[in-house]
Amino acid sequence: MIVILDCITIVLAGMLSIYFLIGGAEVVVNFWNHVCIWVYSLPIFLVMMTMFQTYGGIITKSLKANIIRLWIALIIGGALLQVLSMVLSEVVFPFRPPLRSTIFVVVVSGVLQCLYRYVARQVIKVDAKGNVNFFSPFQPEVKTMGEMVDTSVRSRSKINLCLAQMSEDGMEKKYVNEAFDMNWVVPLGPNVDAFEVDLEKFVNNVAGSKEMLDSRVAALSAGTAAVHLALLAVGVMPGDEVCVQSFTFCASANPIAYLGAFPIFIDSEPNTWNMDPVLLEQAIKDRIAKTGKKPKAIVPVALYGMPYQIDKIMEIANRYGIPVIEDAAEGFGSRFKGQVLGTFGRFGVLSFNGNKMITTSGGGALICNDEGRSAAIGTGGKGSGKEIPKNVSSVSAEDSRKNILWYATQARESFPYYQHEAIGYNYRLSNVCAGIGRGQMTVVEHHLRHHRHVQKMYEELLAYVPGVTVHKAPSNLEMGFDANQHQVYDSNYWLCTITLDPNLRIKGQENAYKEQVTGAVGGAAGVIHVSGETTTDCQPNDNVEALRKFMLDAQIEARPLWKPMHKQPVFKNAPAYLNGVSESLFKVGVCLPSGPWVSDDDVKYIVETIKSAIA
Ligand SMILES: Cc1ncc(COP(=O)(O)O)c(C=O)c1O
Repeated sequence: MIVILDCITIVLAGMLSIYFLIGGAEVVVNFWNHVCIWVYSLPIFLVMMTMFQTYGGIITKSLKANIIRLWIALIIGGALLQVLSMVLSEVVFPFRPPLRSTIFVVVVSGVLQCLYRYVARQVIKVDAKGNVNFFSPFQPEVKTMGEMVDTSVRSRSKINLCLAQMSEDGMEKKYVNEAFDMNWVVPLGPNVDAFEVDLEKFVNNVAGSKEMLDSRVAALSAGTAAVHLALLAVGVMPGDEVCVQSFTFCASANPIAYLGAFPIFIDSEPNTWNMDPVLLEQAIKDRIAKTGKKPKAIVPVALYGMPYQIDKIMEIANRYGIPVIEDAAEGFGSRFKGQVLGTFGRFGVLSFNGNKMITTSGGGALICNDEGRSAAIGTGGKGSGKEIPKNVSSVSAEDSRKNILWYATQARESFPYYQHEAIGYNYRLSNVCAGIGRGQMTVVEHHLRHHRHVQKMYEELLAYVPGVTVHKAPSNLEMGFDANQHQVYDSNYWLCTITLDPNLRIKGQENAYKEQVTGAVGGAAGVIHVSGETTTDCQPNDNVEALRKFMLDAQIEARPLWKPMHKQPVFKNAPAYLNGVSESLFKVGVCLPSGPWVSDDDVKYIVETIKSAIA
């Protein structure tokens, strides 16, 4: 299609030159008439173009850099159609009065524009870098869907799992520079305040509702710090137990140990891959029976961005009176029934590490929710979760936030000198990093759209590859919800994941796990502690490891799923309530590149590489 459009453009461009330069006497005689018609109709034509461009969703923020190019292409294409309609008017109105002829030109050009836009919208593709895949004379290096992709290993830069991408208009630098200009190079300041306000606006917005939630946000130095302070704030003490999802990154569980408490690992259900509410309730009952006391908190995790079954988890938590700390570090922007993750429980954890949905280079935040609102969710109120049960003494979101800020700034008392009556932490976000965060908030929606677009491409392109299954958000019906309700599980698809049939043979599988890993596997930190072993008693299947290696050789970073915490030697003595789901997923799962740098072309290359890896 793009080739046909190119040809039409070139032919029409040629016609335009002929029309003005070497046209017949008739055309030359009527030249000034034509100019008049042009002048009459040009504004209408421009308005129409703008309308169609906006309607077609062609112009987005990320396109700014390419906007001139896009406009030139559209104006030339549209103008050529206009010339065509003017030539037609010559045929219909040989002795035309200018007004009638003008109306004709405008109408015909409008209809042709419509057709032209329709076709253009089918072929215009915008990749992750905002490149417009449109009219190759203007954009020779980009490719479009459906074009053949060279699957041979080529000299290309590495495709990473997910790396930070700054806004095109350099907002991050602007805010960081402001921090330096004003000498706010400390862990507080105007950027921190403004970043928190931006985050609050974002998390309090409920899709499809004008009502805003009332959650408050405290910006912190890391997501791990956010988990730590949330546990502290709900009263976790040495010797206490905390129910935490086993299928997660270690930072969901480590802070439990920092506090001298014990993690109780809960396995996943197979639809979302997140905390299984049935096992959660079993665990709570069993812990009460065994220890005589309730777990102090429940920590579900939005694995790779996928929402957990928060309605069921909140219902159980509120029935037993246990606070929920949502670990939405990977799920920034994911929603359950339109409500942003992190705003359901008592606290919601966010991470802005360099590989997350947005970054502050390193950083995190704690969403602080009104205790009453959180305690009402799932209690059978009118569904909005806003009715506060009478027996709940509600701590407001604002008071919760103050408490968190107090802990995050060394728990200092109100004296002119440093007086401490509790152990505090140095966990506040730096004003310089918050400047990056403010800039990133201007592109968060673009990042979310991009991750979801990449997921959609993987779903489409891998749909018929035997032995490979793309993990998707469960449909409403699958999860027992009304099909007409808007999407219940709305994942940000921070990382797109696939599973491999254990019987699928991958090239080089016979050599899997023969070599010691010495470089980074899906993380900038790399390997610091070299183990000397190449295998453990619980590891991904050979075909998964072979695919990882194959992809790495093709300059693609892929990574196994998180190894469940109950299989980690460091937690080998922790009680775990299991159904085998996380362990079996760990053995077959692979994370694929998904971040803002991953272009459409990259996705096609990744998919072709996976196909060519199959033996
Ligand atoms: C599930 C989960 N929880 C917590 C964290 C900790 O976040 P941070 O790296 O910002 O400390 C991360 C990520 O890194 C994570 O993936």
